[in-house]
Amino acid sequence: MKTENLPCVKVEKRRGEELRRALKELELLRTDARINSNADFIYLPLIRALKEAEKREIGVAELLTREFAVLEQRRSIEDIVGLKPSYEIIGDIAVLTDVDSTVGNEQLVAHALMSLHKNIKVVAKRVSPVEGVFRKRKMEIIAGENRTETMHKENGCKYKLDLEKVYFNPRLASERNRVAAQVRGSKEEIIDMFAGVGSFSIQLAKRAPQSHVTAIDINPDAIRYLRENIKLNGARNVEAIEGDIREIYVKFRNKADRIIMNLPKSAYSFLREALSMLNPQGGIIHFYDVISSYSYAGGEKRKSLETAINKAKEKLTVKIEEACELEHFHSLEILEARKVKPYAPYAYIIGIDAMVKIRSH
Ligand SMILES: C[S@@+](CC[C@H](N)C(=O)[O-])C[C@H]1O[C@@H](n2cnc3c(N)ncnc32)[C@H](O)[C@@H]1O
Repeated sequence: MKTENLPCVKVEKRRGEELRRALKELELLRTDARINSNADFIYLPLIRALKEAEKREIGVAELLTREFAVLEQRRSIEDIVGLKPSYEIIGDIAVLTDVDSTVGNEQLVAHALMSLHKNIKVVAKRVSPVEGVFRKRKMEIIAGENRTETMHKENGCKYKLDLEKVYFNPRLASERNRVAAQVRGSKEEIIDMFAGVGSFSIQLAKRAPQSHVTAIDINPDAIRYLRENIKLNGARNVEAIEGDIREIYVKFRNKADRIIMNLPKSAYSFLREALSMLNPQGGIIHFYDVISSYSYAGGEKRKSLETAINKAKEKLTVKIEEACELEHFHSLEILEARKVKPYAPYAYIIGIDAMVKIRSH
């Protein structure tokens, strides 16, 4: 810890808080220095020596000089490298997310990130979009240890994962927290159709220990990490199943009180399976999709979040009605539709909670 000799006022403890406020209001207090105290007195560090008039105004007779611990000013990445890179931190790995903006400066950015965040041990960059059935992407290590496996902590849960072998998005943390809050303390049968390493399943299971979660994924690596994460988090009410949901959904007909469908862009093609797994008394679907925010009115192109939300609601309504063979459809209520995160300058990931009732298959 850095220390500095600073001018200060000595004041009896009972007057300490009153004087601290007064000095702060007058912008005379050194807020980056740690206030000293002993049994009877408090020493308040100042940005400069007080003028006689100031002493009178705040009722201080004499000034002292004393050593204070001074907090180090945290430098920003912009101060160090002169640009503001986009990155996200997953466990102890920093991932550069906008590769074009750091071309030619990657090493500089990587070392600056590691010096600013001592917990970062690897800096990597995205070198492909999320692709394929497993929704994986390729990474390239720029600095630090040569690995893409890490342990990420989120909302009180731990997830071991490999950034190149499975899908994981730390920006969905508040969405997972929101859905987990809905099941808190409930006793439900929950199916996570596209579970990945268990990011939704485990959080839901931990908040609702009486519930049972079936977590399905087609990617064997995701299931291997999911099983490890179930143990790591003591989530014994999660059952991991490796397989293609289209082939295994029949085992879960009419079972689910709640279904998570986090497969943006493709989830519509799995609605028939989801609806047949829903409890005929009614169940909730958490549905995610990428929706454009453009609309065309009077020959003009407009962009708004409201447009994206309305489009998402309309599309899901139509697709659910199509997927429920007519004789099975009973009712659909959109409980909530909202932006989960921006996806591109012209699109959002929209999340919809829908209560669907069907007649038993
Ligand atoms: C967008 S990721 C979501 C992962 C997880 N829910 C999360 O939020 O981190 C979609 C997942 O669905 C899985 N998947 C894709 N098609 C599938 C299918 N037909 N049956 C089961 N899982 C599938 C992929 O392997 C991938 O892990």
